[in-house]
Amino acid sequence: MTSLRRHPRRGWFITLEGPEGAGKTSQATRLRDSALEAGVDVVLTREPGGTVLGERIREILLPLHIPGVTAQPTRPIDARTDALLFNAARAQLVAEVVEPALSSGRLVIATRFADSTLAYQGHGEGLPLDELRALERFATSGRKPDLTILLDLPPEVGLGRKARREHNRFESSFDLEFHRRVRNGFLALAREEPARFAVIDATRSADEVFADVLAATGRLPDLELVPPVEKGRRGAVAHTPSEPEARKVRIQR
Ligand code: TMP
Repeated sequence: MTSLRRHPRRGWFITLEGPEGAGKTSQATRLRDSALEAGVDVVLTREPGGTVLGERIREILLPLHIPGVTAQPTRPIDARTDALLFNAARAQLVAEVVEPALSSGRLVIATRFADSTLAYQGHGEGLPLDELRALERFATSGRKPDLTILLDLPPEVGLGRKARREHNRFESSFDLEFHRRVRNGFLALAREEPARFAVIDATRSADEVFADVLAATGRLPDLELVPPVEKGRRGAVAHTPSEPEARKVRIQR
């Protein structure tokens, strides 16, 4: 709770986490669309990335390798370098995007955040969790998500959803055991903080998963997003929230 005292909360901060191929980006995009539909000011961002600096760090951490076009990266990146660079991108994202958006009462949706470092560099690469947590506190000044949606699925299912040539450094350089540790790491983090995490079975259809994602956002005070069924009922006419309705979802806390 100390972080809440340090940061008077006004907007909402939702993160989507999970192993590879869980559908985080498409679920986050749907969530953003539902927020827009409900008249909520929303920012959709990603990690690593989301700022000019962060996207440059992303190019270092996750170089695009196009066989026959770009050179295969030869030297492995040390786990501690990974942890520092992911947190450097995170510090910039928090300072430049997350905090200003929350201060002006907006909804911030991020695909991946600090839990990914604990799962990948901690549980996966074996770095001490307490040191990673200290690094996280430094990078984020203690900012925690209000809600973390963990899209859970077995790594063999997630990795199988992407063509091999689309695999990033983590997908191509680490074995299935690593990805199992990452998945179990995320589940352990969720067990430690059940009030923050909603664990959703991501092996199902995108529609079924999204129904649960939307339901999980109901935990956040004063945030009412539009379920897809209501969108349909409203028919062909685009829904523009009435003023009181729009105010309700933008209420400042
Ligand atoms: P993605 O944007 O497609 O999810 O790829 C990001 C990759 O970077 C993914 O393999 C997970 C990895 N990653 C970490 O290892 N640590 C981190 O802190 C973050 C944010 C991502």
